[in-house]
Amino acid sequence: MVLLLGYLIGQHGPLRFLWALLKFGVWLVCAVAWLGVLFTRPAAAVALSVAWVLLWMLWRMRARVWALVWRLWGHRISVMIPRRVWMWHFQFNSWPRLVFRLGLVFRDGHGLSRLTVQYPRGRWTLADDDNGWTVVVNVLDGQSPADFIAHCETFAEAWGVHHVAGDSPKRGTVRLRAYITDPLRTPLAAPPIPAVTNFKSVLLGMREDGHQWRERLLGRHLFIGAATGGGKGSVQWAVIRALCPAIRAGAAEVWTVDPKAVEFAKGRWLFKEYATSPEEIVDLVEKAAALVATRRAAMAGGARTHVPVSGDPYVLLNIDELAACTVYMTKDLIDRFNRALGLILTQGRSLSVSVMAAVQDPRKEIVPMRQLFTTRIVLRVDEAGQADLVLGGGATARGAHAHLIPADEYTGAGIGYVHGDNRATPMRVRAGYTSDSDIDRMCLRYAPAPTGP
Ligand SMILES: Nc1ncnc2c1ncn2[C@@H]1O[C@H](COP(=O)(O)OP(=O)(O)OP(=O)(O)O)[C@@H](O)[C@H]1O
Ligand SMILES: [Mg+2]
Repeated sequence: MVLLLGYLIGQHGPLRFLWALLKFGVWLVCAVAWLGVLFTRPAAAVALSVAWVLLWMLWRMRARVWALVWRLWGHRISVMIPRRVWMWHFQFNSWPRLVFRLGLVFRDGHGLSRLTVQYPRGRWTLADDDNGWTVVVNVLDGQSPADFIAHCETFAEAWGVHHVAGDSPKRGTVRLRAYITDPLRTPLAAPPIPAVTNFKSVLLGMREDGHQWRERLLGRHLFIGAATGGGKGSVQWAVIRALCPAIRAGAAEVWTVDPKAVEFAKGRWLFKEYATSPEEIVDLVEKAAALVATRRAAMAGGARTHVPVSGDPYVLLNIDELAACTVYMTKDLIDRFNRALGLILTQGRSLSVSVMAAVQDPRKEIVPMRQLFTTRIVLRVDEAGQADLVLGGGATARGAHAHLIPADEYTGAGIGYVHGDNRATPMRVRAGYTSDSDIDRMCLRYAPAPTGP
């Protein structure tokens, strides 16, 4: 007997042995009690047995019952149940099962009796905007954040939420943000025009996490890639809108290249320069390159960066349909255009000359100088790989599902992905929509003051 006990403790460890002993004791007491009832009141003993079996079956089926209820009435339940309770359900009930099924657990040990399963544990918190929760998971040794981020769509399906975004705030952890509903599902009004333009942070729209979507203009070049109707115009107009106070004060100028001669014709009065024909376009871009060269010569040996002021302004070269200039002109004009643009892109940043270019087809043959743009934004595209062309390799795998943005204007135009500051994964954003009447008002109020005699 002593030998048997010694063997069992050695095999399972003292804690497991004590736990097994306790369970055995409870079962023994129940069995004796049940036998006692059977001999005194047989009918009650049978009823007890049936109730026990039913409870046991219900407990075993709890996951399937809950999944069925969720599928049938999930949306109504989500409205009735406080968000915290909803989160707790996934935290305590569904998370272990889910990570097990996705192969994100490790089985350690040897021999059946010593087998242990290691679960990745997470810190769950409700999001500030009350539209979901955040799980910060400590990944296990042998896993990487990418293993979890690759399953974001599966997490969204399992939790019945609109979208799950993943990123890695620091080494060894992955952050999964569940969005119950899509805060970007309806169009946003044009961003308000500030009293004074802040070139380092202009408001373009809203981020998925409910915060403002802001981008830096000074020292940056912007590249916007999207299929036709994706809403490139709304990003371009949001930038111009933010520049309005500086345009009026003479501290900023917008030079627009508009090969279609439609989209920007309405705002013509806001632009210092405006070109539509191939010759005009090339002349304009060469003029911007000459400005870069002049400023560079003037600053040689002095200050390292140019500060835009009235009279010596920040210049935004706004190029719509870049492909029309890099592919669909005569060879001579294309060469001149590419040479001038290349100079601005490489040297204009510290000299307050920025380029903002919109393109429908971001392939390298069409836009050879893509990599020189420092801020890149992808809106709806037709093929999965195109987000990678705009944001860089692997962007789609890291969550930039630009090919899944709806083609419908109301629900999809202006939605896109951008690399946020200090974030490895792309951020989903929507630009505010500047309507024709907004443009009319901008022209009336902010057109540059006339100069000269
Ligand atoms: N941010 C937005 N929010 C809501 N609707 C938008 C937004 N941006 C654009 N739209 C709608 O989508 C339509 C097409 O947008 P826009 O002309 O800006 O697309 P585009 O990408 O510039 O297309 P193209 O390549 O043909 O010039 C607009 O007329 C407008 O109705
Ligand atoms: Mg356009």
